Amino acid sequence: MGKRYYITTPIYYVNALPHIGTTLTTLASDITARFQRMRGKTPHFLTGTDEHATKVAEAAAAAGKTPIAFTDEIADQFKAIWRGMNIQYDDFIRTTEERHRAVVQEVFRRLREKGHIYLDKYEGWWDVTTETFYKESELVEGKSPDGNEVRWVEEENYFFRLSAFQNQLLEHIEAHPDFILPEVRRNEVIAFIKQGLRDTCVTRKNTGWGIPVPDDDSKVVYVWFDALINYISAIGWPEGNWEEFWPADVEWMGKDILVRFHATLWPAILLGLELPLPKTLYGHGWLLMGGEKISKSKGNVIAPLDLASQYANSMGGCKDLAVDAVRYYCARMMPYETDTTFTLEDFELRYNTELVNDLSNGIHRVVSMLGSFCDRRIPDGEVIESVKSAAESLVSAIAEDLERFRIDKAMDGVLRLGTVLNETIDREKPWDLRKNGDARLADVMITLAWLVRVLEGVLRPITPVFADDIASLLRLAATESWEGIGHGIAPGHEVSAAKPIYLRIEKQQSETQVKEKTEPVVNEITIEDFMKVQLRVARVLDAHRVEGADKLLKLDLIVGDERRQVLAGIAQQYAPEDIIGKQVVVVANLKPRRLRGLESQGMILAADASDGGAILVVPDREAPEGTSVH
Ligand code: MSP
Repeated sequence: MGKRYYITTPIYYVNALPHIGTTLTTLASDITARFQRMRGKTPHFLTGTDEHATKVAEAAAAAGKTPIAFTDEIADQFKAIWRGMNIQYDDFIRTTEERHRAVVQEVFRRLREKGHIYLDKYEGWWDVTTETFYKESELVEGKSPDGNEVRWVEEENYFFRLSAFQNQLLEHIEAHPDFILPEVRRNEVIAFIKQGLRDTCVTRKNTGWGIPVPDDDSKVVYVWFDALINYISAIGWPEGNWEEFWPADVEWMGKDILVRFHATLWPAILLGLELPLPKTLYGHGWLLMGGEKISKSKGNVIAPLDLASQYANSMGGCKDLAVDAVRYYCARMMPYETDTTFTLEDFELRYNTELVNDLSNGIHRVVSMLGSFCDRRIPDGEVIESVKSAAESLVSAIAEDLERFRIDKAMDGVLRLGTVLNETIDREKPWDLRKNGDARLADVMITLAWLVRVLEGVLRPITPVFADDIASLLRLAATESWEGIGHGIAPGHEVSAAKPIYLRIEKQQSETQVKEKTEPVVNEITIEDFMKVQLRVARVLDAHRVEGADKLLKLDLIVGDERRQVLAGIAQQYAPEDIIGKQVVVVANLKPRRLRGLESQGMILAADASDGGAILVVPDREAPEGTSVH
């Protein structure tokens, strides 16, 4: 087998479970792996847990457990949460595993033999929260530069000759512009190294938790030295086929652990071992809440699966789709150079405006129209060239962005594809083409179906369940390769009946569901009376608000072969985007009347909600437009 595309996440401390901040990094790796697989590479995606930290032993003691019993439980929960988030890692390493311990000791032994590790006396300040050593001069008002408590430590310890690698490191960074990304982080690293690298203490007194130093078990290996080695211990270095994996193609992490650890200590260890350096170290920004980094120590944690469960019902009831909504949001918010802020309001807003309106509804409109205008079959037309080339260049740009780890920009591209889809519908007005018997309808509808197929392909690395649902609406297999994006839309191919994938989150949903007292039935009528009312199934092709009337929506309906304009007093419960594509029931023989200067050619049925609003009556399953209702 050729070289694998090797992707890593940091290994997470097990004193806390994943939150949406840590999810960001793991998701970035998952998207990279899924994308690279579509590009024809064989990815190898590693994640895991960092278990030897002092604070882990302290958290275990607080929970009344032995450290290993504690970490076993948490590591299992990590795996379950990542599975729940549809993270497809290939390997999960725990630093308490024997395969890791053996390699850490081997690295230590080799570096000591080469003189890169030596024994000396350590005196200084120790930050337990971040497991970092500081000199007196580095403290800020008696605390670490991050504001954490520090403890004074005086021990005989082993030191790693980090200073000896300073020039070699700088040369490497300067010769390899993609080694540290983004550029602002690279500049920070260069500035940090230029200040002068100090030899760093790589052991601690053995208090029973950690990997013992070879031939000196009064000490354990420093947790960062131990943890960084996971990237090579997991691939079995120095035995077996580790060269199929190494060097890593990308090591994803947050900016907090780049400068002091991944971009200095880690490459220096590798240089000491005479191993090649990772191709890219990528340090993304943080996700903030209330102006602070989301983290257990700040107490502002939101768990990704809780977020999905909280919204699953209002999004349509499918937990896996709700997970994709969280994946969508995290990918969309992927902080590049600066940090981004998470709020529930923003989560709901982006969900409603982007995932529902721009993407899911756009797709729904197309599949509905394929049903109404084309008997659910892809018509024999030609994909419109200008739309095709616009979409194809967006697809290439998305690929370039993902190759450069710019998930944020790739997400812009995905949304722009959604805009191309919606703009094409609005510009071409397939309902008019159909009404006028215009042959161009075939070209427009095959173009729209092709755009939906393209969206399915580009969304696949980001929201795989949403992509699966789109593929099943099109009755096509999943797009497996990036080159295959857009393939499979052939004239005559039959698609499924339309069904929206994501539903809008309605803030007042729980309130409108409150049960109302039913009114007593009065004034009996005969069946003949009732039969005078012609009720028909109709589809909403378009909907707009009516200026100056905050309750009214102007609906464009298709009823059989006929188009109708109907004004409905539902604007406070339904946004135009919610209702476009839906089937409704219309009173078709109601005398037209004028409202706000506009003609209303019928009335749609809705139940009265307790708050005076309306709840639309919709057919339980799709029926051809124009079907009678009794
Ligand atoms: N165990 C070390 C890493 C060792 S890697 C050899 C560690 N663990 S951690 O659990 O504290 O955090 C790991 C990573 O989680 C951070 O680098 C970052 O990638 C990610 N994040 C944690 N909180 C985050 C945010 N609020 N926002 C973005 N990323 C976040 O450090």
